[in-house]
Amino acid sequence: MGKILVTGGLGFIGSHTVVELINAGYEPVIVDDLSNSNPQILDQIEKISGVRPAFHQIDLSEENLVRKLTVAEPDIEGIIHFAASKAVGESVKLPLKYYRNNIYPLVNLLEAWYGTPLNFVFSSSCTVYGQPDELPVTEKSPVKPAASPYGNTKQIAEEILRDTVASGSNYKVIALRYFNPVGAHETALIGELPIGVPQNLVPYITQAAIGKREKVTVFGDDYNTPDGSCIRDYIHVVDLAKAHIAALKLMQSNNFSGYDVFNIGTGKGNSVLEIIAAFEKSTGVKLNYEIGPRREGDVEQVWGDVTKAASQLQWKAELGIDEMMSSAWNWEKYLSENPL
Ligand code: WQD
Repeated sequence: MGKILVTGGLGFIGSHTVVELINAGYEPVIVDDLSNSNPQILDQIEKISGVRPAFHQIDLSEENLVRKLTVAEPDIEGIIHFAASKAVGESVKLPLKYYRNNIYPLVNLLEAWYGTPLNFVFSSSCTVYGQPDELPVTEKSPVKPAASPYGNTKQIAEEILRDTVASGSNYKVIALRYFNPVGAHETALIGELPIGVPQNLVPYITQAAIGKREKVTVFGDDYNTPDGSCIRDYIHVVDLAKAHIAALKLMQSNNFSGYDVFNIGTGKGNSVLEIIAAFEKSTGVKLNYEIGPRREGDVEQVWGDVTKAASQLQWKAELGIDEMMSSAWNWEKYLSENPL
């Protein structure tokens, strides 16, 4: 099926995608600078799949290292580009870190393989829509001015990809706009590994449940939503990983050329309070939580129209909130017994 370079392949979404690539018969080659990931994830991938993928520890913002990679891996057929910084709050304080880490590697990769017929999958985000005027958001909904440098890097990256494809590069490119990835692999051998205090809801919940955090704070219950808390489209990371395989398959078929974007979510929204209730129900663990003030920069509600992915990628999410919560919890319990 071909060799696929997976940048950021030891990260949360990257590691799950590497496993799904192996399951689908591809040969993933991992590139990761370990700035926000753990080298033991390579062992975990091997435990799950029986395959130990090739691994290059490289900072892709170094142009000469990316050129060397084209020599070391001359026969790759595709690139799935996850490697990026992703903390929204940090990006406001350190914008140049985000422009460097999220833009230089993309440009270096595209330049290094320019002219080669290659399938390229890019990790984009529903953050490009901001607070949409109409729900659910479709791929035709307007891209709104970014609320953070992180969000801006995703918008700029999409433009770089679109313009590069239009220039006659020989690339086929699919940008996947992820909604909120949560959950972990069913084996509980890989999952999200937040450094420090988690910024995202589900890792915060699981750490509070295991006793690493005192309580969960719900950021606002006075929004214009049925229960007053914010609504998001949470998607299981294994479903999300499979969307990358579907994107590669579409590009390998003769039914795709150029550049396109797809929403990758479940098409359903859940509130923060619903997520807390679902966690308690599916794990039987009571959560200590309180209502706090709103978090600056949060959009009130967003969920995706995912019909384009269903019809063109032949992909749709299969796992529900229960599986998202129980797998995230199993991973947290695994980590508490097997610290990585
Ligand atoms: C979800 C909901 C919070 C923590 C961000 C980025 C997005 C993507 C994923 C990726 C919100 C509420 C959270 C807590 C809470 N980026 N919340 N208490 O903000 O939707 O998306 O992360 O790499 O691009 O914007 O995700 O998980 O932070 O928040 O009440 O302790 O949970 O207010 O409504 P978000 P999140």
